[in-house]
Amino acid sequence: MVEIIPSILSADFARLAEEIARVERGGATMLHLDVMDGHFVPNLTIGPPVVESIRKATRAHLDVHLMIENPERFIPAFAQAGANSISVHSEACRHLDAVVGLIRSEGPMAGIVLNPATPVSMLKDVVEVADYVLLMSVNPGFGGQTLIPYVLEKARELERIRREKRLALSIEIDGGVHRENLAEVVRAGCDWIVTGSAIFHSSDPEATVREMREIAAQAQAVQC
Ligand code: DX5
Ligand code: ZN
Repeated sequence: MVEIIPSILSADFARLAEEIARVERGGATMLHLDVMDGHFVPNLTIGPPVVESIRKATRAHLDVHLMIENPERFIPAFAQAGANSISVHSEACRHLDAVVGLIRSEGPMAGIVLNPATPVSMLKDVVEVADYVLLMSVNPGFGGQTLIPYVLEKARELERIRREKRLALSIEIDGGVHRENLAEVVRAGCDWIVTGSAIFHSSDPEATVREMREIAAQAQAVQC
């Protein structure tokens, strides 16, 4: 099942509950929350108190993407704030296996994020303990960038590994996905599809989510 996951980074933070309600009316059941620390990436965003407030405003699955150094320090706080899944960058974890274990012990699903330049081959062993892998299709830090084409080859490679090892792994992609390249992204094997500016900067976010869900479902049906 392919999920279209709106990233609130491109939403109007002063009207967040309203923005969330709009995309939920379009059919979104998951929301992507980008956490940035100004060190791992050159931008700053939200912390656990904001996640906690969002938790009170929606029943959607909250997918927290940590773009921070030393993520292990903050995982319990994000779990307690109501995250349903938490992903950490392989590039930010010295003890990746332990951090994945920490996320799971706190309750949420655990994801490993790879920057565009980090090869899928680094997942060879650890992929077995992750619930999902997030492939960054832009260099993290900002919404509204262009998808880096070679990341789709990484998605195909990961899809092959998933099939060969018979893993119940979700493949998430984040950055530069819009209506025009969505079908190709789905055909590459991605099933959790994050999209920020394409939804929240459109004139009708509700309709855009609905339309993207249809495009994704059709692309998947053709593939099967
Ligand atoms: C970028 C963030 C993304 C961002 C995607 O570092 O991780 O989640 O919101 O935004 P778009 O879809 O506009 O590329
Ligand atoms: Zn993200």
